[in-house]
Amino acid sequence: MLTGKRILLIIGGGIAAYKSLDLIRRLKERGADVRVVMTEAAQRFVTPLAAGALSHGKVFAELFDREDEQDIGHIRLAREADLVLVAPATADLLAKMTHGLAGDLATAVLLATRAPILAAPAMNPAMWSHPTTVRNAVQLGADGVVFIGPNAGAMAERGEDGAGRMAEPVEIAEAVERLLGTSTPGPLAGRRVLVTSGPTHEPIDPVRYIANRSSGKQGHAIAAAAASAGAQVTLVSGPVGLPDPPGVAVRHVETAREMLAAVEAALPADAAIFAAAVADWRVAGEAAQKLKKDGTSVPPLALVENPDILSSVAHLSGNRRPRLVVGFAAETHNVIAHAQAKRARKGCDWIVANDVSMDGGAASGIPGGVMGADSNAVHLVTEAGVEHWPTGTKTEVARRLVARIAETLNAAEAAS
Ligand code: CTP
Repeated sequence: MLTGKRILLIIGGGIAAYKSLDLIRRLKERGADVRVVMTEAAQRFVTPLAAGALSHGKVFAELFDREDEQDIGHIRLAREADLVLVAPATADLLAKMTHGLAGDLATAVLLATRAPILAAPAMNPAMWSHPTTVRNAVQLGADGVVFIGPNAGAMAERGEDGAGRMAEPVEIAEAVERLLGTSTPGPLAGRRVLVTSGPTHEPIDPVRYIANRSSGKQGHAIAAAAASAGAQVTLVSGPVGLPDPPGVAVRHVETAREMLAAVEAALPADAAIFAAAVADWRVAGEAAQKLKKDGTSVPPLALVENPDILSSVAHLSGNRRPRLVVGFAAETHNVIAHAQAKRARKGCDWIVANDVSMDGGAASGIPGGVMGADSNAVHLVTEAGVEHWPTGTKTEVARRLVARIAETLNAAEAAS
């Protein structure tokens, strides 16, 4: 519930603005006091009249309106909020927030507030994945802005698909409750969950490294879903171009050895999910200085094996071992057989297997393959057998996995 909480909702100018009207309703039915600021562009999509009728108050839009400034003023609007919510957060608004621009009421409030800021991005997938927006989102995350979404799925533009849809109003309202600490306990409340995500970078010299194509989308979605389910989540992430998921403690690492150290430091945990694509090998004797061409020979790259993080955690004993250890298996052929062998070899409880070949992706309706995509088709391999899950967005797969984890932990607790 949000009884007595003052939420300042900033509506940006995007087609998703129509969903912000429903969002006002969702916040109000939870007891929140909602004040609305609209950008000029937002008013082309929804009217201040509609937003005002739903919020039961005046809608603010002008920085230089004498009456508004005397009445409340942008500084008071900024100060009197328990949380500032930007929905939809357009690429333009995110860029202005990153640079501290304050040329209109919305951006002036965002710069003046000291309340937590929650942003629900919504834009075309090409704009969301543009390096500039990615850079801005990462910077805003580092500045303390919390993100919810965007979700993957069909866009308003016909035929467009990908991450860019604004999170649903209910999801946003739940994220507000989480941020303000007023949510009702989820199925993982009181549990500690550890997740690894992304690739690792293994240095060759100070400027070069060995890496892989993991985007971190699946691991980050699992961390976000576990946090939504009420868990205390630590996400150990290799280098990715994704913002930190809301309500998650993130440890940023580069190499497999750093990932292992961060994982060990995050234990104990009730469940540990290893979604990272850890480099199997690192370069023996990383050069302290940049390797230079000498025109006659190429430098030999000797490799040594990295520690297997999943296997080392799965083989821990006593309370140090999480009750549920879940590994991933990215395979290009004999997917199930390899996943079953991997489960036995690594000593984990479950393996989430996926076919990362182009053919496997196409067979599951993911034409470009699973790596870097927003969808995933997985098989859950447990002691009891194999479950073939339907193709879904990485968020849907994450939610399903988290629901299974909650069910299993709660059943194990009830039985003990
Ligand atoms: N993993 C890990 N540490 C490593 C290698 C892998 O924790 N050094 C984890 C991954 O996070 C994943 C699982 O092990 O959960 C399987 O990774 P995968 O790369 O598919 O397996 P490999 O051990 O590399 O086996 P292979 O290369 O033979 O397929």
